[in-house]
Amino acid sequence: MVCKEKNLVIERIDKNNILSIQNIQRVCEEPVWGASSLFHLLDKGSGYGYLAKQSRNIIGYILLRSLNNEEELLSLGVLKSNRRNGVAKRLFYEVERDVIKKNIYRIFLEVRVENNAAICFYKLIGFKKVKVLKNYYRADIGHEDGLLLSKVYFDDYKLS
Ligand SMILES: CC(C)(COP(=O)(O)OP(=O)(O)OC[C@H]1O[C@@H](n2cnc3c(N)ncnc32)[C@H](O)[C@@H]1OP(=O)(O)O)[C@@H](O)C(=O)NCCC(=O)NCCS
Repeated sequence: MVCKEKNLVIERIDKNNILSIQNIQRVCEEPVWGASSLFHLLDKGSGYGYLAKQSRNIIGYILLRSLNNEEELLSLGVLKSNRRNGVAKRLFYEVERDVIKKNIYRIFLEVRVENNAAICFYKLIGFKKVKVLKNYYRADIGHEDGLLLSKVYFDDYKLS
């Protein structure tokens, strides 16, 4: 796993990181979650994720929620100045280590059809299209379609 960023430290998110998560979501131009939603997610234990830090500055994050035997990737972002250096790949690798240990069936997520960078990234790391979500997102004018993507880890889960 090659990451071109030097001195990258990956830390597990906890409920003391709420402000940091909101800040990095804002600068990555991702939807900023409310503090109470983040607190609820992280406090109840179904939410988890990682921060990527360089010289103590947060340059990326990934946030997920566990639902029975699957996980939902809720939010992911890397600072513009640090993109295409393998930071998101490194964060996702950390998540996959958990997923494999926990025998998770699949990870799924929703993404805007116009978000070419994210779709290319997800395809590269093994996500496949499940379906188109018609008019799923609000756009400046009207609505925009989304895609439901998933990466399956244990295909025979339903047989066991
Ligand atoms: C999507 C995002 C998280 C990718 O982060 P990143 O750290 O730049 O990704 P990586 O460097 O690990 O990329 C790994 C591979 O994904 C693909 N990829 C990533 N960004 C891409 C882009 N803009 N265009 C095409 N392919 C891209 C490439 O194959 C890349 O490998 P390469 O650089 O060797 O060609 C980042 O662009 C981002 O923060 N976007 C804004 C927030 C967002 O859209 N989040 C997802 C919401 S669902």
